[in-house]
Amino acid sequence: MNMKRGHFYIKTMGCQMNVYESDYVYQILKDSGYEYTDDPGRADLIVINTCTVRKKAEQKAYSHIGRMLSLKRIKPHMRIAVLGCMAQQQGQKLLERFPDIDLVMGPREIEKFKLFLTDIIRGAKIVATDLRGGPVGIIDCAPRVPSFKSRVTGFVSIMQGCNNFCSYCIVPYVRGREVSRSLQDIVAEVKMLINWGIKDVTLLGQNVNSYRDKDYDFARLLQKVHEVEGLLRLRFTTSHPKDVSQRLIQCFRDLPKLCSHIHLPFQAGSDRILRLMNRGYTKEHYMELIQKLKDARPGIAITSDVMVGFPRETEEDFIDTLDLIRRVEFDNLFSFKYSDREGTPAHKMQGKIPEEEKQRRLELLQSIQKEITLKKNREMEGRIVDVLVEGKSKRGNTLTGRTDTNKIVNFIGNSDLIGKMVKIKVLNGYQNSLLGELF
Ligand code: SAH
Ligand code: SF4
Ligand code: F3S
Repeated sequence: MNMKRGHFYIKTMGCQMNVYESDYVYQILKDSGYEYTDDPGRADLIVINTCTVRKKAEQKAYSHIGRMLSLKRIKPHMRIAVLGCMAQQQGQKLLERFPDIDLVMGPREIEKFKLFLTDIIRGAKIVATDLRGGPVGIIDCAPRVPSFKSRVTGFVSIMQGCNNFCSYCIVPYVRGREVSRSLQDIVAEVKMLINWGIKDVTLLGQNVNSYRDKDYDFARLLQKVHEVEGLLRLRFTTSHPKDVSQRLIQCFRDLPKLCSHIHLPFQAGSDRILRLMNRGYTKEHYMELIQKLKDARPGIAITSDVMVGFPRETEEDFIDTLDLIRRVEFDNLFSFKYSDREGTPAHKMQGKIPEEEKQRRLELLQSIQKEITLKKNREMEGRIVDVLVEGKSKRGNTLTGRTDTNKIVNFIGNSDLIGKMVKIKVLNGYQNSLLGELF
């Protein structure tokens, strides 16, 4: 056991990959003798794991950094580490603007976090933004203590980076080129999580379909992980439509633990805009994929990401997007206004759409999707579903869990059901969740 080093606080923004990497850092800090606190005012070390995918994410990161720096003014021995994609993007500039920050570290430097920690404790200022680092996993920090013991669901990163260069997207610039973890490491890590009591594992990558380890592709990886004893549910995110293979579709037919859900971002329904976005597929191709997935796994839930107001998007293009939404009937949809990111090809494009117009399109799109989501949730009423119980719900004394189609279900039950699979009769379908009772 290490000497007690004080308290740390971690704020995580952005996507699941950041959640995973925060877990990695959390594990290292626990192993180094730090204790976690959810009160930044009590912390000796503050870690802020940032995102920069849209302007808003960047603004949120800056305002959090600002708040944390004001705490340091009354507690000068405090150390502040800014991690994640915005740290990568800003690098040295961040330290120049806020000299009280101690560490600026991009996602591909995470393996060196422990070394950097020792240095900043001694008073060093560090900026680390090399993108050549390999992908790391929780298992690589050889955790002696399972630090998230009571969790039911867990993430496993299978690859790092992205080679797609969608024209609007900053991710390839802040996370570097694609590198896959070895199949052996991934399977070992899944086994470790299962030993810690986790039942539902999500494999993570910016584009999981291009996973490769020697002769193993993503479908083969799914088969291998599927064999792990004690695993109840297997999920993955994110898939790129241009890379969904026949072998992957076949997995939905063959692998019963693979959940009936796929998150398949389509971004736009107009072929012209899809081309400008450098997405590499058409609306028809996307619709065909959806059909094949539904044939392979009847009842599969489909969720997606979409963007409005990409440069030069006309009313007609926008209507193509709405048409796709109406035809697919997504179970859930994450929708965004196009946000200009410096350094991306779209940033230099002509024909930017005014903010008010983007807002109008977003609101219209969201009102259409809201009805579809509610309709789909209402259709669940009266059905009996298998729910993996994840914990107590935030409100009241109810339990919460998810169906394999990724719908949240709340119901009354004893907390010893946490971690178990139960049959639930759905009573009510709401906008964001289902209400049920034990069957
Ligand atoms: N690798 C994943 C997720 C990338 S980021 C994928 O390819 O699907 C998550 C979502 O953010 C994207 O799907 C996209 O809809 C949105 N996004 C990315 N860059 C954006 C930008 N510049 N403006 C608005 N939304 C953006
Ligand atoms: Fe960005 Fe496209 Fe890569 Fe997703 S696939 S991370 S949207 S570049
Ligand atoms: Fe944001 Fe980086 Fe994820 S930019 S969405 S935290 S990959």
